[in-house]
Amino acid sequence: MKEEKLRVLLKDMSLKEKIGQMMQLDVSCFRNEGPVTGSEVDQEIAGEDLTLAGSILGAVGAEEIKDLQKRCMEKQPHHIPIVFMADIINGYKTIFPIPLALGCTFSQEDARMVGDIMAKESAADGLHVTFAPMVDLVRDARWGRVMESTGEDPYLNSRMAEAMVWGIQGEGEHYEGHLGACTKHFAAYGAPTAGKEYNNVELSERTLREDYLPSYQAAIDAGSAMVMTSFNTLDRIPATGNQWLMRKILREEMGFDGVLVSDYNAIGELMTHGVAEDKKEAARQALEAGIDLDMMSGCYIGGLEELVKEGKIREELIDEAVLRILRLKNRLGLFEDPYRGLEDQDTAREIFTEENRAKARKAAVDSMVLLENQEGFLPLKKEEKVAFIGPFVEDKHILGAWSFFGDIEQAVACCQGIKEKGAQAVFERGCGMVNPGQTLYGFRYNMTNTESWEEIDALIERAAKTAADCDKVVLLIGEAPIQTGEGSSRGDITIPEAQKKLLDAVTKVNKNTAAVIFAGRPLDIRDVKEKTKAILYAWMPGTEGGHAVADILYGDAEPQGRLSMSLPWSVGQVPVFYGELSTGRHIEDGEWVENRFLSRYSDMPNQPLYPFGYGLGYTEFSYSEVRLDKEEIRMGEPLQVSVTVKNTGSRRGTETVQLYVTDKVGSVARPMRQLKGFTKLTLEPGESKDAVFDLTSEDLRFYTRSMEYKAEPGDFIVWVGANSRTKNGKKFKLR
Ligand code: NOJ
Repeated sequence: MKEEKLRVLLKDMSLKEKIGQMMQLDVSCFRNEGPVTGSEVDQEIAGEDLTLAGSILGAVGAEEIKDLQKRCMEKQPHHIPIVFMADIINGYKTIFPIPLALGCTFSQEDARMVGDIMAKESAADGLHVTFAPMVDLVRDARWGRVMESTGEDPYLNSRMAEAMVWGIQGEGEHYEGHLGACTKHFAAYGAPTAGKEYNNVELSERTLREDYLPSYQAAIDAGSAMVMTSFNTLDRIPATGNQWLMRKILREEMGFDGVLVSDYNAIGELMTHGVAEDKKEAARQALEAGIDLDMMSGCYIGGLEELVKEGKIREELIDEAVLRILRLKNRLGLFEDPYRGLEDQDTAREIFTEENRAKARKAAVDSMVLLENQEGFLPLKKEEKVAFIGPFVEDKHILGAWSFFGDIEQAVACCQGIKEKGAQAVFERGCGMVNPGQTLYGFRYNMTNTESWEEIDALIERAAKTAADCDKVVLLIGEAPIQTGEGSSRGDITIPEAQKKLLDAVTKVNKNTAAVIFAGRPLDIRDVKEKTKAILYAWMPGTEGGHAVADILYGDAEPQGRLSMSLPWSVGQVPVFYGELSTGRHIEDGEWVENRFLSRYSDMPNQPLYPFGYGLGYTEFSYSEVRLDKEEIRMGEPLQVSVTVKNTGSRRGTETVQLYVTDKVGSVARPMRQLKGFTKLTLEPGESKDAVFDLTSEDLRFYTRSMEYKAEPGDFIVWVGANSRTKNGKKFKLR
């Protein structure tokens, strides 16, 4: 439909109808079930108002969506189609590794592929928009939602954010065969104080702009159709009612002109935040801030009409919001075909195909991070007798917390993947994911372990006996998926007690033990490191997890993931991340020193257990010195940085070459290092290749003391190496 026609339509709509378009309701309102996510909302929406909703969230499947579309459109005064949205985070039916793991691939191709497949599968099943990508920068492993982000680094997150948007939206003018993307949660939701879910965020404007905004900007520049607000306050103002943040920063400065949706009941929560007295006032603040679509608070439908009539808000603000919503519907082609081809589609042909599963297997392999491999413990040999022990041997809860639509039963368990290798393997559960007698409460399902400690002790004893009788042991342990995701902050980030007991018992009788860790966050795995010879961090790997784990363990695939988030030494260090400022009393390597008056802990190191960017493979690489094509550059002039990387081992392997920059002196304190580039090189044994990067003064920009975004002349160091701790650096000057 032409823009003019949209405007004509808008003109013809009553105020009430327009406000209806600005209401998004949970599908439960139409199904009479509990809400999909978030708190129970007191709807108070009159029956006839329900039929005015412009958007529905959480509906699933072609049949339901077709039916709802038909029913709702009939009742809509202008028969405007509904736009259907849902949380497709790391896959629809074919589940890929969680986003934090995807970050570890350092691969835009993988991120784009995941976005592409999840969009294609869910679009084929009727969906229009996904609430993804989540691009919040995360540095606090206590927060459960770190699993939904691609990690701690602004540059890596930006590259992943844009790639996800490209993948989700595809290349068609109407997102054909794909979805609209909804980038979330604006802004800085990933920095809740003390890692506590929904907590307030305290950030300087400089840190907000420099570290937190770039990934949203990258997603917007990639064309993200929508943005979602965040639940948190920022500078004590809830984001969802923050005019400065939404109108000035997001719209004006960042150039976002798509639909801005509130998070679930976030407009209503302006009251519990204590900035609005009632729903009407909450609606006023949100609209003034420029929120177009009210997800499930009922504040807009309940309050806006009166506000207009009382002259407290201008109707133009409503028109502006509705026009954006109509444009989105138009962009999705809904006016021409409200069913987006559902009528003549054979969804089975598109969904959960062998091809999609093969891609999920590849992404899972690419995302797993090998942290230790002493004495060449891995890969395993088929003739070795190996005991695979732990709750993740058979349990298929490896899809991640947001994989609502994926079928756990269809996931490949690790034991299945291993059995397919035809190796000498024995299996023991040892204990459950959840401690005996404990219930973990999720928002889709709970996990209860009804076993007693006596029963578990007996299982552990049995597992230890099996372990003693084998050449090697691989423990498959970690946290349960519902200990991660929304509403899952943890104050203790170690593996559950029963699994610790299992680790102790097994490693006591067999020192030849490795661990595969399943988790949605960086866990404190110090004790695992002490007691094992190899560690593979498998995250929540998705549908093909069992195949991917087996591929890596038996050497049919190369581990090549690199940490997208530092793995803390202990929760006491959190938030711990590589891009810190130096402080006035910095210790270079964070080791213990006798001088107490330094920036350090007195009882633990400064450094995390494993730093950002870290990961091993099955071969080794050597780096040449860093080469620069000049020692000095002027503003705007490019600097070419290169290294030669050689595979010095005996297997083919892929190295992720990472480039970091240190700005020695600035008008404000600068992060000690910042990632500015990465590239992956696949090398045969003995083979060398150059990694070449172009750096310009644009890459050196920051918010100066006077808050100008620019580079300042001076000395820099460029580092190129295997992770954020590389010592391979060279100085250059910016004139
Ligand atoms: C609340 C979450 O914060 C958000 O990420 C999600 O998209 C909505 N619920 C809808 O499920």
